[in-house]
Amino acid sequence: MKNTLLYIETFGCQMNVHDSEQMAALLADSGYKLTENIMLADLILINTCSIREKAAQKAYSLLGRLVKIKKKNPELIIGVGGCLAQHIGQKFHKNFAHLDFVFGTHNIDRLPQIVAAIKEKREKITEIDFYESVNSIGVFVPPQNGKVSAFVTIMQGCNNFCAYCVVPYLRGAETGRPSEDILEEIRKLADQGIKEVILLGQNVNSYGKTIGNGLSFAALIKKIGKIPGIERIRFTTSHPRDLSDELIRCFTEEEKLCEHIHLPVQSGSNKILALMNRGYTVEEYMKKVDHLRNLNPHISITSDIIVGFPGETQDDYQETIDMMKKIRFDSTFSFKYSEREGTEAQKLEGKIEECEKLRRLKQLQMLQDRHTLDKNIALENTRQEILVERRSKNSKDDLMGRTRSWKIVNFEGGLELTGKLVDVKISKGYLHSLRGKMIDEEAGSVD
Ligand code: 5AD
Ligand code: SF4
Repeated sequence: MKNTLLYIETFGCQMNVHDSEQMAALLADSGYKLTENIMLADLILINTCSIREKAAQKAYSLLGRLVKIKKKNPELIIGVGGCLAQHIGQKFHKNFAHLDFVFGTHNIDRLPQIVAAIKEKREKITEIDFYESVNSIGVFVPPQNGKVSAFVTIMQGCNNFCAYCVVPYLRGAETGRPSEDILEEIRKLADQGIKEVILLGQNVNSYGKTIGNGLSFAALIKKIGKIPGIERIRFTTSHPRDLSDELIRCFTEEEKLCEHIHLPVQSGSNKILALMNRGYTVEEYMKKVDHLRNLNPHISITSDIIVGFPGETQDDYQETIDMMKKIRFDSTFSFKYSEREGTEAQKLEGKIEECEKLRRLKQLQMLQDRHTLDKNIALENTRQEILVERRSKNSKDDLMGRTRSWKIVNFEGGLELTGKLVDVKISKGYLHSLRGKMIDEEAGSVD
């Protein structure tokens, strides 16, 4: 079969990154090989995100720029997928005449057929129907040579309807995978050299409650821990309301589960949390954080925060800052509230000016940077277990790996250590990474 070249541009979250990997795996069977050079591609896919306006704008802008490439190469096929494609659907064709097809979040499995149909008839296609289960959920992504870590989807969709969020409308209702399928996929990944799995879902804590097949999420993690070759387990994202005591205990009971949890809090004001329909109070959230830290003193806690949600007063915002000072997250992703069509928040009064949102965001990010740096400096002179991922981007003599708490560490070492667990003494903590030195057991221990 002749190799044809595929270029994929991905916007948005880890879920989207994994969707793109699955798209490439599906199209590999039709002879498509990935290229990093968009100019050489025979097929370009844009995997879009719609969670905030900025992400949507980036996808529109790229799509606009593709007109020129298509003019040079009329045979080129261009497709748009992901959340924005799900939202805009057919209308995409009206605004972008050079686009060949639009496919939704439940239609990824249809890519080979869609592309084949376009090659044959060159007519415009839109496929955005929702199904009860997402057929591409278990598409196997063969790990590339030297890859250490792999995403594994355990559930998709969301039933929460947080007031600001488009996900439930664009990804559909929660659907889970049978645990046996998940375990089988991980066994296969381990056989092909994968050491770390990152379990993915919009709300992984729903696993075993509303979806799955009887096994709780904690029980699933423990089963994964027994798969030979798997050294580390991570998961994302959790909803604070659904974080169970059983799962919190799992951080101490299951050795392979890394001590890091991403637990989006969104706001430190109970008034705003209620308007957001989050289903917990700040006090309840803090109790979970205390419980996590009491059982696992070294656990890293990261979070998402939105500033400038409709109705957020200076006092509400100050409550978010106060909460951050009490909790001291390891790091946070923070965003200005972005109005999304069709959400409940769109109907709320008390919209905040863009410049005020920006002021709040900048101040919050400065505080978070201080906390992150303090936490990283506190790791200086400690011994950390690192899973070596690859050569560091900064220096050809350095390797890059992560601590169990998901922090990046650069240190000197040979590429043969890729995929190995090594012990490193941290020499310096920076804002975005740590520097360390591999511990030579023969030469003596460190404290
Ligand atoms: N505006 C700003 N941030 C949002 N998020 C989701 N929807 C919006 C929105 N409309 C943020 C939340 C979520 C993260 C993935 O994106 O913090 O946890
Ligand atoms: Fe969106 Fe809330 Fe579902 Fe997360 S839990 S995907 S923020 S609706």
